[in-house]
Amino acid sequence: FFDSGIGGIAVLGEAVRMIPGHDYVYYADTLHIPYGTKPKEDVKSYILEAAEFLTSLQIEVLVVACNTATSIAIRDLRRKYRYPVVGMEPAVKPAVERNNGKRVLVAATPLTLREEKFQNLVEKVDRDNVVDFIPLPELVGFAEEFKFEDDIIIPYLENKLLHYDRAEYGTVVLGCTHFPYFKRHFGKLFDNDTAIIDGSRGTVRRLKN
Ligand code: DGL
Repeated sequence: FFDSGIGGIAVLGEAVRMIPGHDYVYYADTLHIPYGTKPKEDVKSYILEAAEFLTSLQIEVLVVACNTATSIAIRDLRRKYRYPVVGMEPAVKPAVERNNGKRVLVAATPLTLREEKFQNLVEKVDRDNVVDFIPLPELVGFAEEFKFEDDIIIPYLENKLLHYDRAEYGTVVLGCTHFPYFKRHFGKLFDNDTAIIDGSRGTVRRLKN
């Protein structure tokens, strides 16, 4: 499992529960975190370096438990290595499909939202123009510093959401593996029936297959 920091640990947790009895290795690139606000080429070189190290441990599968790293390097990784590489991308498709008439808000890092891979995904599935985006890079830092207290996170999110009409959203997609740690906070800021979703389960299901 690979991520820039602690985000992917929740995905690893899901894997250990759903696919027990295997040896797991977790690599957090804490030397270079955050990825989401750095130039693409720099981030790509960090990812390739980490993958070289993990490959030297004779891994059987690589899970890129990071939406940003997936959007930057998944193609290069799949081309370069023979083992399967499982990536993560914001769960825009299921969000659009389940969303009877309400809007979808995708929260991710600036780099993920800017990337062609993400733009193409949205272009493909967002036929009715219901998808909006919000970059929340500071949440990555808050998670790394274990800052989960309401008196920091709620005002931060409220301020970021100032120009969004929160009542319009039927689904919020947490498109960065650091964000599900704040699911409870998102839940407080949206209607009770707004779904707050992330890609951990789907990723582990793919890993299992
Ligand atoms: N955890 C990463 C993701 O899923 C990004 C964190 C970072 O900016 O380094 O996108």
